[in-house]
Amino acid sequence: MSDECHLCLLGLIALSSLLTGSSGVDDAHVFISSGENVRLSCNNALHDCKSTTWIYNNIFRHSETVELITLGIKKEDTERHERLSLGSDCSLNINNISKDYYGSYSCQQWTGENGHKLRPDGHVYLHVLHVSSSQTEISAGRSVTLFCQLYSSAGVSCDDWIRSEGIELFWVNQAGVKLTRSDSRYQISAPGHCISSLNTTLLNEDHNREWRCNVTQRDQVKTSVTYTVKSSGEKTSSLISFRPSYCQ
Ligand SMILES: *[C@@H]1O[C@H](CO)[C@@H](O)[C@H](O)[C@H]1NC(C)=O
Ligand SMILES: *[C@@H]1O[C@H](CO)[C@@H](O)[C@H](O)[C@H]1NC(C)=O
Ligand SMILES: *[C@@H]1O[C@H](CO)[C@@H](O)[C@H](O)[C@H]1NC(C)=O
Repeated sequence: MSDECHLCLLGLIALSSLLTGSSGVDDAHVFISSGENVRLSCNNALHDCKSTTWIYNNIFRHSETVELITLGIKKEDTERHERLSLGSDCSLNINNISKDYYGSYSCQQWTGENGHKLRPDGHVYLHVLHVSSSQTEISAGRSVTLFCQLYSSAGVSCDDWIRSEGIELFWVNQAGVKLTRSDSRYQISAPGHCISSLNTTLLNEDHNREWRCNVTQRDQVKTSVTYTVKSSGEKTSSLISFRPSYCQ
């Protein structure tokens, strides 16, 4: 095969993030794919956001909680402050989510001179779907592995949580049909419930083919990411790269 013919994998991120159970102090779960933007609602009782504090916690990453917004003011010293903003309704906006942002977010509202908390904290659990590939550019006839992982921290491990909530993570083909281990073109391996890898040998006719990783809860799609194979006549590898793009 000539060097001229390269296939390139493009990750196209399909937006479908759903917020469930978000009234009062109920816990809410938000599913999102890395690279997307998200708005986490505060369900605030007070309209003055100077009383609002947003707290982040992820027991699997740090033991401490981090204050992201303190009484309406953004903390400038946190690792993620550039991507954060406080909405006019006191919601927390996060741009360009990365997989490290999974965890629990709480909105607190404080009132009075001595600082009296208005109600117990409600938690918003952010679950981040992230996909990567073993190569961003390969030639037909070579194999590639795509990895799809859900990063989740709702007090228990992702594996335990996902099973108790009826959540599934799997690969689908272009027609939206679930790929199974019995399909001879693919080696699918799932060492846990929150991760699945798809290994296949690229064919010339794969140009423009899509593979998608879906996360569903009781058969409803919560979020998904597509990988599209692109051919290129270019010889220089730097012209082709893994670029996620977003569509709504
Ligand atoms: C989003 O974040 C990733 C790293 O997490 C970075 O490589 C990328 O350039 C960022 N995209 C935008 C549009 O800022
Ligand atoms: C895909 O699977 C084949 C056969 O099991 C293996 O030889 C190959 O190294 C794998 N490819 C990648 C990129 O992991
Ligand atoms: C996977 O997600 C896509 C996009 O939301 C949807 O069109 C497709 O029906 C889903 N397939 C399955 C088997 O859930």
